[in-house]
Amino acid sequence: MDFKIKSGDITKAKTPCLILGVYAKHKLSAPAKAVDSASGGALSALLKRGDMIGRSASCLVAYDLPGIAAERVLLLGLGKRKELNRITFDKAFTTALARLSEISVTNALVALPEPPAGMDLYLLVRHALLLASHLGYRYEHTKEQAEDAPPVLKGLSFLVANKADSAIATRAAAHGQAIAEGVALTRDLGNLPGNICTPSYLAEQALGLGKRYDSLKVEVLEETDMEKLGMGSLLSVSRGSREPAKFIIMHYKGQAKPDKDAKPIVLVGKGLTFDAGGISIKPSEAMDEMKYDMAGGASVFGAMVAACEMQLPIELIGVVPSSENLPDGAANKPGDIVKSMSGQTIEILNTDAEGRLILCDALTYVERFDPALVVDMATLTGACIVALGRHPSGLFTADDALAAEISEAGEAAADRVWRLPLWDDYQQQLDSNFADMANIGGRDGGAITAAAFLSRYTKKYLWAHLDIAGTAWVTGKPKGATGRPVGLLSELLIRRAGVDT
Ligand code: BES
Ligand code: MN
Ligand code: ZN
Repeated sequence: MDFKIKSGDITKAKTPCLILGVYAKHKLSAPAKAVDSASGGALSALLKRGDMIGRSASCLVAYDLPGIAAERVLLLGLGKRKELNRITFDKAFTTALARLSEISVTNALVALPEPPAGMDLYLLVRHALLLASHLGYRYEHTKEQAEDAPPVLKGLSFLVANKADSAIATRAAAHGQAIAEGVALTRDLGNLPGNICTPSYLAEQALGLGKRYDSLKVEVLEETDMEKLGMGSLLSVSRGSREPAKFIIMHYKGQAKPDKDAKPIVLVGKGLTFDAGGISIKPSEAMDEMKYDMAGGASVFGAMVAACEMQLPIELIGVVPSSENLPDGAANKPGDIVKSMSGQTIEILNTDAEGRLILCDALTYVERFDPALVVDMATLTGACIVALGRHPSGLFTADDALAAEISEAGEAAADRVWRLPLWDDYQQQLDSNFADMANIGGRDGGAITAAAFLSRYTKKYLWAHLDIAGTAWVTGKPKGATGRPVGLLSELLIRRAGVDT
């Protein structure tokens, strides 16, 4: 999709459709007022008839208004000015874009309302752009589009009031497009089936990104390399699969800032390209959705692309341990004991708790980067969905300042998290008679004991874990990857980079 920022006289703006906000009780937004007076009160006259009163997420399309260059105007109800927030804005804007599709309008110009509470112009433009590209996303790899499918928006422009706003909005649009590109890649990788998107496929995609961006160096470790590193836990999962495991490392170096000893930020993502559970096999209902078990890894790809596109002045390392988890004669058996790269031994009481088994070795591996911060993303537990539902991702960290930083970034990016405790009290649930720890901690607090397991491998650096089991894809119809938490990660990186927003 093509996004542009425009400024200047709204009445002279040439566009197939000008989108104008109307607040509750017929209150015109500032740009709508300008159009109203240029058209000799045509909008007020329409509102008086009662067809549009500004109810939130209502729409009215008006044609051939006198005195303005736009071919048509879409009046978009925003509800009460004071009650406009990100959620109500999303609903309204989504309705407007759906209406454009119905009337086959593929180019539009949005005269932005004042930013809703909690947003500034930068966030509003970036968010609106991301929403539009989210709605315009089509999965096309293994499916042709129906001929009668409604047309997709091709171009969206945002009209701002003045030069100063134009600079802010232009920055927001550039960031928005970069993030949108990352999100789309994450969604594509997630939606691809397990027989196409294998660990080798992910490795190839990473190498492809390395060719595309000069600032990105990519390395892929093979199973023989992992053996030499002592990644006995990761390899034990991969042994049950015919697809070789891959350990993907993407290293981005932006134009360095003056302080040379800034340490890198490291992102680690679970890359289980299919999780059948192994010998502790899953029930077959909805097992297809376990192709999304690489969503954490896919979000690392998305965040890397966003950082490359924005050319953020940071050092960022993305690590994706990738494997399948299948039942097989060589697969892990309940009771098996493996030795992780850290030297700690693990009794595998449930082969379906495999995410932590591959992540623990990746989390040990990244110690070598002396990171400023490590964040891992994983579709780790069904228990996280039970605890939080499907709105926030679960956030775990022992560091309160980091918890606040990530929560605020999620809030700003409309990609929210909710913190769960990571107290030592839970550690005893992982006790094992035969190894340093068990890989499961029983039914109680399943998302927390999974995080507690990971915490045993992250003692050497500042660390946070995001359980994205409930947020990485939507289930039911339509089913599909969401691209989360690329929005949150991008916001976090933008803030850490200290670039203008
Ligand atoms: N990938 C799953 C978690 C999952 C399940 C995410 C459903 C999203 C939807 C993970 O590997 C898993 O199987 N976890 C087990 C852990 C249990 C055996 C302790 C789970 O959640 O049941
Ligand atoms: Mn599993
Ligand atoms: Zn899994």
